[in-house]
Amino acid sequence: MLGFLYICGRPFLFSLDPERAHELTLSLAARTGWLARLLAPRSPQVPARLGELELRSPVGLAAGLDKNAVALPVWEALGFGFVEIGTVTPRPQVGNPRPRVHRIKAQRALINAMGFPNEGAEAIGARLERLQASGRWPKIPVGVNLGKNKDTPDAEAASDYAKVAKRLAELSSYLVINVSSPNTPGLRALQAKDELARILAATQAEAQGRPVWIKLSPDLGDEALGEAVEVARAGGAAGLIATNTTITRPVTCPDLRGGFSGHPIYPLSKGRITALLERAGDLPVVGVGGVDSPERARELLAAGCTAVQLYTGLIYQGPILPSRINRGLRKP
Ligand SMILES: Cc1cc2nc3c(=O)[nH]c(=O)nc-3n(C[C@H](O)[C@H](O)[C@H](O)COP(=O)(O)O)c2cc1C
Repeated sequence: MLGFLYICGRPFLFSLDPERAHELTLSLAARTGWLARLLAPRSPQVPARLGELELRSPVGLAAGLDKNAVALPVWEALGFGFVEIGTVTPRPQVGNPRPRVHRIKAQRALINAMGFPNEGAEAIGARLERLQASGRWPKIPVGVNLGKNKDTPDAEAASDYAKVAKRLAELSSYLVINVSSPNTPGLRALQAKDELARILAATQAEAQGRPVWIKLSPDLGDEALGEAVEVARAGGAAGLIATNTTITRPVTCPDLRGGFSGHPIYPLSKGRITALLERAGDLPVVGVGGVDSPERARELLAAGCTAVQLYTGLIYQGPILPSRINRGLRKP
């Protein structure tokens, strides 16, 4: 039923500016979550683990879709096994000028140059506290993806990550250090060994025992992936999430600035994930980037990922995608 409604509504949504369509859908989801729960197909359980956390499905909602946690109770109803909110920065910020999200429809891809628009750690923390008090807190793990404000100098980046961790760790199941979005100038340079180690240590110090993951870019070479693994191990990170959007263009598309995501990114992200798995040993890896079918999810899990996440697939295939993947994963 939900799939049918999405197919009917999609032409209208796709006639709107992508970000406007996104805002409309999220606010609808936030206000009619009970309806989604009623209409969503029953999703089978596919037990999995995210480090020490038990999951009812290895399919998670990737960061950036519900940045401000406005529709948090909806995601489990769609069959997601975990959800990641954010990226959250210490102070609220508006992000880059619009338009900053573009559909590459023929390729089932997106290019985004959002630049971490979000309400900031305090407002998002207050929203999470209200949700907890209301008794509608999701039964699936909720991760918080951490970032730095655009106007924070890179030399002070670690304290930004620590500030968000301090405010939100208690309200989260896990934290993610995001040093891989291409739309905040200088951010990806924080993936370098010393900077990353500093950020990890500062975040761990405020994590209140919550597992801390690190999210990487698909544009890193083998050596950089190896260094990230070293830092993660030495600093006691729970695992690695790969990958974020790419600044490369895996297919011919309009010349727009921003990070590329969706169906055509999969060969790149899978290649980087495989290279990471070879170096990660027993450090868990979450696979993300172009996961939009049961086959792709299965392939990444078979390669050794502990779980997968998706974003762009949901935009093109609608809310039935997670349960479709769960059903596919249940088949022998
Ligand atoms: C519009 C948009 C906004 C995003 N915002 C964030 C973000 O704030 N933080 C983050 O870590 N990743 C962000 N991402 C990256 C996704 O979480 C994911 O890593 C990437 O899109 C690849 O997965 P996909 O091909 O399934 O979309 C964003 C992606 C898109 C398309």
